Amino acid sequence: MTQVITSIHDWVLTWHRELGDKSIGFVPTMGALHAGHQSLIDYSRKDNDITVVSLFVNPTQFNDKNDFERYPRNDEKDISLLGQWGVDYIFMPVYHELYPDNYTYKVSESSFSTQMEGASRPGHFDGVLTVVMKLLNIIHPDRSYFGEKDFQQYSLISKMCEAFFMPIEIIMCPTVRDQDGLALSSRNALLTEEERKRAPLFHELLRSSLKAEEIVKKLNESGFRVDYVVDYENRRFGAVYLGNTRLIDNVQR
Ligand code: PAF
Repeated sequence: MTQVITSIHDWVLTWHRELGDKSIGFVPTMGALHAGHQSLIDYSRKDNDITVVSLFVNPTQFNDKNDFERYPRNDEKDISLLGQWGVDYIFMPVYHELYPDNYTYKVSESSFSTQMEGASRPGHFDGVLTVVMKLLNIIHPDRSYFGEKDFQQYSLISKMCEAFFMPIEIIMCPTVRDQDGLALSSRNALLTEEERKRAPLFHELLRSSLKAEEIVKKLNESGFRVDYVVDYENRRFGAVYLGNTRLIDNVQR
């Protein structure tokens, strides 16, 4: 049966100790779960004896208070889905326990984190790296799973673990897409019906052979507000707004 844990103390001193030398896979999430999360959980369940999923909408990674408030939340539904998906433990920490310092201490990276998502959302990756470091230190997994859709996040977390000698395998799992190509994201729930119909064009253009500037032009003409389309190493990254909803995606080239 799936166990819900809210206290860090209970996890560290009771539940984690009882697991002995069983291997632990960890999937951190901000809830509003979809088939993309389910796929991360499936990978974790295949590789490990035990799978832990965290549900925590992390305020420190939102540079915009309205975005934090609008972020979709549905704890009851998420807990029920995680039970159906065979998760062993759900970790739902509360802010004051996870941030006893009220975010006076943070983890920063000063190079890749300043580009793309970091350039558009100042402080975003400080919040992500800090919360992931805390969660990894609490859960103590053997492996942790992240989606390729957030490639920049995956890469920064993977290199953070190397930089701080954290003995955790950081595993990237392929982006899960709807049939029309739209990458699954909790934010898709915020799209209107009409925006949802237009959204797949974003991925279609990213994977096309057009130059980045041409893609920006076409997206603007189709009613998207483009934040960036950037070629970096062997990938093309993009971020756009449809109405108030921000979508990101990337493709390997
Ligand atoms: O990708 C997310 O949902 C979040 O950035 C994460 C990794 C759970 C940290 O809050």
